[in-house]
Amino acid sequence: MINFKVRLCKWAGLHSNKEATPAFLSLRGNVETGCSVQTRRDPILYRMMMIYLLIAVVCVSVHPVQALDNGLALTPTMGWLHWERFMCNIDCNMDPQNCIREELYMQMADVMVKEGWLEAGYEYVCIDDCWPHHQRDAQGRLQADPKRFPSGIKKLADYVHSRGLKLGIYADVGSMTCGGYPGSLGYYETDAKTFAEWGVDLLKFDGCYMNWTMLGEGYKNMSRALNQTGRSIVYSCEWPLYEWPFHEPNYTAIRETCNHWRNFADVYDSWSSVKTILDWTATNQKILTPAAGPGGWNDPDMLVIGNFGLSHSQQQSQMALWAIMAAPLLMSNDLRDICPKSKELLQNRRIIGISQDPLGKQGYRTGTVDSFEMWERPLSGARLALAILNRQEIGGPRGFPLTLATLPSWQYCNPRCNVTQILPTYQELGVQALFSKQILKINPSGTALLTVTQIQDYSGKGY
Ligand SMILES: *[C@@H]1O[C@H](CO)[C@@H](O)[C@H](O)[C@H]1NC(C)=O
Ligand SMILES: *[C@@H]1O[C@H](CO)[C@@H](O)[C@H](O)[C@H]1NC(C)=O
Ligand SMILES: *[C@@H]1O[C@H](CO)[C@@H](O)[C@H](O)[C@H]1NC(C)=O
Ligand SMILES: *[C@@H]1O[C@H](CO)[C@@H](O)[C@H](O)[C@H]1NC(C)=O
Ligand SMILES: *[C@@H]1O[C@H](CO)[C@@H](O)[C@H](O)[C@H]1NC(C)=O
Repeated sequence: MINFKVRLCKWAGLHSNKEATPAFLSLRGNVETGCSVQTRRDPILYRMMMIYLLIAVVCVSVHPVQALDNGLALTPTMGWLHWERFMCNIDCNMDPQNCIREELYMQMADVMVKEGWLEAGYEYVCIDDCWPHHQRDAQGRLQADPKRFPSGIKKLADYVHSRGLKLGIYADVGSMTCGGYPGSLGYYETDAKTFAEWGVDLLKFDGCYMNWTMLGEGYKNMSRALNQTGRSIVYSCEWPLYEWPFHEPNYTAIRETCNHWRNFADVYDSWSSVKTILDWTATNQKILTPAAGPGGWNDPDMLVIGNFGLSHSQQQSQMALWAIMAAPLLMSNDLRDICPKSKELLQNRRIIGISQDPLGKQGYRTGTVDSFEMWERPLSGARLALAILNRQEIGGPRGFPLTLATLPSWQYCNPRCNVTQILPTYQELGVQALFSKQILKINPSGTALLTVTQIQDYSGKGY
């Protein structure tokens, strides 16, 4: 056990007893006047503070980067996207309910309005790969598969719009889509114009069948072509995903070009897939988090909540961490048949509120202690969202001792914060002092999601 002394200053750094702590602990901050001095003995607290100080130094460097100037995606896009659940199922004889055809999107649109999805914020109904005909028309335009989309995409867009929703479509920067349908290489202007004429509101632009050295040029050219149509179309890119295998992508250029961008592998309906995405994101957060903000977001791929592969605790973890990561919330599930608990989770207004926070700062992992991962996201209104993920996948629920003083942003809570737990269940924990301790019970692979709100000290004397 280590004895150490911490000097706590509102909005200032942390000073420690030099004899008892490593040199880096005293690197940060100036001591303001009017600091309170407290002494504590607590090994977990000490370990956390060491981790957090390192992270804090790392995460502070935020340069405002210019976003794509189309006025869209000022908060992360919300909607539904067919890929993970319905993939390239084109066999409408065998599986009419689930094949890629116009009825699928019409039914999804109906449910989204009837079952409260639109009201909760899920606005975009998005088509993924396998919608087009294998040949372009005589004018070189993409056309929908005539058997599966007999009414055409324009009619489908009208249908979706008549319900107050928006329509997303899919194409590819290269010579073919990943599923082998016609790519847009050489046709960027034609395709942008076609999509605009159809009334499309979002384009997911994949990166298969493209020489990686031309990815940037291709994505930028399509961005310009979309702009020149004059229609507001959210531009969802996969540029960094296809560039990472060769070198580190230029996120300044990506943010200028796209409204969101996929960085990493496709999500699968499994906890191991969700974990891999979280780990990759945390490992690269120094590069990723500064790139996110109103108008442009890192896209860790679809929400798979409501399918087959995740336990309820794991579904809560995906929802909580996608909100922390300021990720687009694009569900890929069957909204016509979804269990009530998954629906309630996906429509949870408090979690959506974190996702859609107007400050638009992406959260990050702040440390790992005792197989608990800690994440935080700064929110508007002197608030922070915290997620504590139990990464231990053996045994039962474990208690996490929450002490505000152990947060990397503990200054927010000096001397007190109002603490609200959102997951696994809603609970107002009330006003907590910096060193008070709350035990949070967290299931294996589950997450506790909380918000902490700074309590303004109007008297200037503390409580
Ligand atoms: C096109 O770009 C210009 C300037 O970058 C911007 O002002 C305009 O709103 C954009 N238009 C659309 C439709 O995105
Ligand atoms: C990709 O483009 C580069 C530069 O234009 C060229 O040298 C290379 O041969 C191309 N690779 C393939 C697989 O076409
Ligand atoms: C992008 O546009 C420029 C300018 O029109 C053109 O020279 C270039 O070939 C285009 N690149 C791609 C990949 O379409
Ligand atoms: C990255 O892109 C930006 C904006 O397009 C550009 O100004 C900058 O020079 C690029 N950085 C590198 C290292 O290529
Ligand atoms: C703490 O937060 C809860 C939930 O938002 C709220 O009902 C309560 O009034 C807040 N308490 C204080 C002292 O701000």
